[in-house]
Amino acid sequence: MRFSRAQRYLHAVLFSTFLGLAATGLPLRFSESIWARGLARGVGGFGAILFFHKFCAVALTLAFLVHVKDLITRVVVHHEKGIFWGSTSMVANLKDVKDLFGHMRWFLGLGPKPEFGRYAYWEKFDYWAVFWGMIVIGFSGYAMWFAPFFAHFLPGWALNAVLVIHSEEGLLAILFIFSIHFVNTHLRPDSFPMDMVVFTGVESEDEFKKKRALEYAGLARQGKLESRLGEAPQTWLVNFSKVVGFTAIFIGLTLLVLTLSAYFS
Ligand code: HEM
Repeated sequence: MRFSRAQRYLHAVLFSTFLGLAATGLPLRFSESIWARGLARGVGGFGAILFFHKFCAVALTLAFLVHVKDLITRVVVHHEKGIFWGSTSMVANLKDVKDLFGHMRWFLGLGPKPEFGRYAYWEKFDYWAVFWGMIVIGFSGYAMWFAPFFAHFLPGWALNAVLVIHSEEGLLAILFIFSIHFVNTHLRPDSFPMDMVVFTGVESEDEFKKKRALEYAGLARQGKLESRLGEAPQTWLVNFSKVVGFTAIFIGLTLLVLTLSAYFS
């Protein structure tokens, strides 16, 4: 068992609202392109696209706030120190830096493949990219949405700047998720064509041992492997996850192609 039900639901809200935000933000940014105008015509104009964008933005903001509340509860109420350091933390440490260089050496055939713990360095990077992105994109988005309110304490030029910041950070997030995140998580040889663990919550023991050898060895040493045994997912869940996952990857890759074609034309 790798992910709890709550973590899987949170990821589901995250990826579906992100796809919605990308699919509605891109036509706003590249509004001159043929596909953006076609989409706008199909849904009732650019005003409707902006409405859907704001709808997804509110849902994503709520998911982010639930996550932050969960983190605060774990620190303040349960005094969980593992959030900040140790093998279950998302905070980067010296081993992550060594793993990054070790991995590069392995890619070039110059050294052995590093062994990873619960979260590999690129998984921590993905997490912080989203966390940081939420703050920057969220703040700039709400500043545009409620500009008269923000104008009480932000100078006029800052309200122009937030559009540029929102637009560029949004584009960066879209390009990163639909290329690097997809490849690192799903399309790399170890997981190809898709890593199902974030949908089903479980992976096979062989997969666990191969992908997170250090975490597996640590649990085996402490005699705690049993505590991580999970139910094999039911067939309907596997099939449903495959349909949802492949659809998400297909939409993401399509948006990536449309973005690149609009950007360079
Ligand atoms: C989470 C809270 C968010 C809020 C409140 C928000 C709000 C907005 C608003 C109000 C606009 C319209 C700006 C205008 O009037 O021209 C906009 C545009 C845009 N948004 Fe968001 N957004 C959010 C998240 C995102 C995310 C996560 C992405 C990327 C996936 C994104 C990508 C874009 C893009 C590319 C534009 C077009 C900017 C341009 O015209 O150059 N937004 N957003």
